[in-house]
Amino acid sequence: RAIAVIMVGGPTKGTRFRPLSFDIPKPLFPLAGQPMVHHPISACKRIPNLAQIYLIGFHEEREFALFVSSVSNELKVPIKYLKEDKPHGSAGGLYSFRDQIMEDDPSHIFLLNCDVCCSFPLPEMLDAHRKYGGMGTILVVKVSPESASEFGELVADPVTNELLHYIEKPETFVSDLINCGVYIFTPDIFTAIEGVTTQQKNRANLRRVSSFEAMQPDTRNLSSDYVRLDQDILSPLAGKKQLYIYETKDFWEQIKTPGMSIKCSALYLSQFRHISPQLLANGDGIKKASISGDVYIHPSAKVHPTAKIGPGVSISANARIGAGARLINCIILDDAEIKENAVVIHAIVGWKSSIGRWARESVIVEDEVVVVNSIVLPHKTLNVRVQDEILL
Ligand code: GDD
Repeated sequence: RAIAVIMVGGPTKGTRFRPLSFDIPKPLFPLAGQPMVHHPISACKRIPNLAQIYLIGFHEEREFALFVSSVSNELKVPIKYLKEDKPHGSAGGLYSFRDQIMEDDPSHIFLLNCDVCCSFPLPEMLDAHRKYGGMGTILVVKVSPESASEFGELVADPVTNELLHYIEKPETFVSDLINCGVYIFTPDIFTAIEGVTTQQKNRANLRRVSSFEAMQPDTRNLSSDYVRLDQDILSPLAGKKQLYIYETKDFWEQIKTPGMSIKCSALYLSQFRHISPQLLANGDGIKKASISGDVYIHPSAKVHPTAKIGPGVSISANARIGAGARLINCIILDDAEIKENAVVIHAIVGWKSSIGRWARESVIVEDEVVVVNSIVLPHKTLNVRVQDEILL
């Protein structure tokens, strides 16, 4: 039996995703018409003998209640949101629900970050994991040497695929092979995390009894049950024949900023072309608009037949797209309105916003005004062209 756990963080995480995460928890922001976390959840459906999916985070429970019940109905998998009383770190969060996770007596625990966008090759990873026979298998990908330092960099044995060396966001270049934030573990992971918590407790006790404490305050200022998967678990276990890698040659991106969500939305749309083409708009039926490339249009959206849409466009519920509007590579959120002949390229149009003559709760883009690659906060009127700006 297998259990899947998706780490969804909490309101103090994901700060680079602002202002979008002011209105909605980041894991629920729509990409290709579905909440970000819906994509890894539906990938979990392909895990053989999956007993349960847990979402672990410190967002308010009510924010996830509706989503969790509707997606577990839709996919016919039991899904539960487990709320931490405070942030415990990526490994500490998992550990704090170990009893509940072990109730199903799983042989494998799949652990996924919510803010990565990829094809989640979980069954293939499981085959590799079984073959290696280790405690854990990490999904990895090659990135450009310039961007590698934003991630956990690692070195693996080219023959056995054993993880030999792991360093989280290093200052000097180590490797262009990086950690994708998708793992399979055996339940032994809990013993490994417990080892770290015990060590941290002992260290904290030592500090308390020595005068050292005043000189060396805990810079993280966090309790001993705060454990990070990467630094505290993966780094020390590297080179001990316990961790192995599985390299994906498919697409992989991290979703930390609003700009990345546009890119990832388009990546998921092009994946739909292969795995769920029925979700893509084809210009037939009531929509009749001219569609090019991969486009998602919510059934309740109203799109004028003369609008030209795509590629890489996702249109959410109750959005209205006017005559002659042109949309390329963008996310149009619920209740937004794109008026006649407006052009929206590489943008996110916020909930209830209006492009053309009228406004969102407050952003007003006047007729014929061009907004390129910018972030505009509420209560702004744009009457001149803006490019590459953040307007606060
Ligand atoms: N429940 C819970 N509680 N989740 C958490 C907590 C916590 O206290 N802290 C982090 N998370 C979740 C985040 O929501 C995210 O899904 C995942 O754990 C990892 O977040 P971070 O620890 O902030 O790391 P990161 O995203 O900067 O980098 C990690 O992922 C990269 C891949 O996207 C690292 O593992 C990198 O090595 C890796 O390349």
